[in-house]
Amino acid sequence: MELGDYLKEKKKIVDEYLENQLPSEKINPSLIHRSIRYSVLNGGKRLRPILTMMTAELLGKPYQSVLPAAAGIELIHCFSLVHDDLPCMDDDDYRRGKLTSHKVFGEGIAVLTGDALLVMGLDFICNNAEVEGVSKESVLQVIKKVLDMLGTRKMLGGQVEDINWQFREQNHNNILDIYLKKTSALICASLETGALLSQANEEEISSLSQFGENIGLAFQITDDLLDLQQDKKDNEKPSYPAIFGIEKSKEEIKEYCNKAKENLLTFGNRAELFYKLVDYVQYRKE
Ligand code: IPE
Ligand code: IPE
Ligand code: MG
Ligand code: MG
Ligand code: MG
Repeated sequence: MELGDYLKEKKKIVDEYLENQLPSEKINPSLIHRSIRYSVLNGGKRLRPILTMMTAELLGKPYQSVLPAAAGIELIHCFSLVHDDLPCMDDDDYRRGKLTSHKVFGEGIAVLTGDALLVMGLDFICNNAEVEGVSKESVLQVIKKVLDMLGTRKMLGGQVEDINWQFREQNHNNILDIYLKKTSALICASLETGALLSQANEEEISSLSQFGENIGLAFQITDDLLDLQQDKKDNEKPSYPAIFGIEKSKEEIKEYCNKAKENLLTFGNRAELFYKLVDYVQYRKE
């Protein structure tokens, strides 16, 4: 199957699931439910839940067996974006081509929307325990993994260092360390969620985790390159391309994409779509 068709098909599945499972705007307090739906149902690529579903399929399980957890991870990603855009963080007016949540609903509601999306995301993951054939123990392992990847040693720690960049020397290793935390961590969690719920063995989990780190680095450097082409406040902060230039950034992206492909060797030609996904990350334009 072509990757483009696969991404389109799976995005539709995630979008429909979220549309149906998110609380209706009619439920009180209506304002926060409106803001939650606005902040989620706004055209994201759904890359992280797609990675969870792709992993299940790679391991011979149907995507349906991981769909609630996959959608939960997307909600957690949306939480991180709503807070990332706040005036006290990156101060962005647009997200996914639309006004940011705080621009539409005000800062207070945007903070609470982020909180709600995090809580709801974990709740969706818990719901995966109801899926036939999925062990409750594996769901507990997923929750632990996701919490580890979100905590102050990983995603939240990366966000702390990202907004406090003045206090750390901006060299190659420090920038990549921030990227590993703020971006790779949740991507690793998406892959490992699919793996844990599908009873992957340790070698498979470890390969997927290394794959996630490498593809996450490539993904974030590409994000920075794409940001540079737009008038974004993010560009006022140091980033890999801002410090090392566009050419060096492209070389770096290629290197991490090649490493990511090496991490897939464990899976042989079963990982065909994953290889295509690496190329997609390397050359993506949005
Ligand atoms: C944006 O992620 C935030 C980063 C970690 C770079 P995506 O580029 O996956 O954003 P959406 O979900 O498709 O909007
Ligand atoms: C976002 O990184 C990382 C997280 C939200 C955890 P960026 O700040 O570079 O993402 P964009 O450019 O706003 O999407
Ligand atoms: Mg940011
Ligand atoms: Mg930002
Ligand atoms: Mg960015």
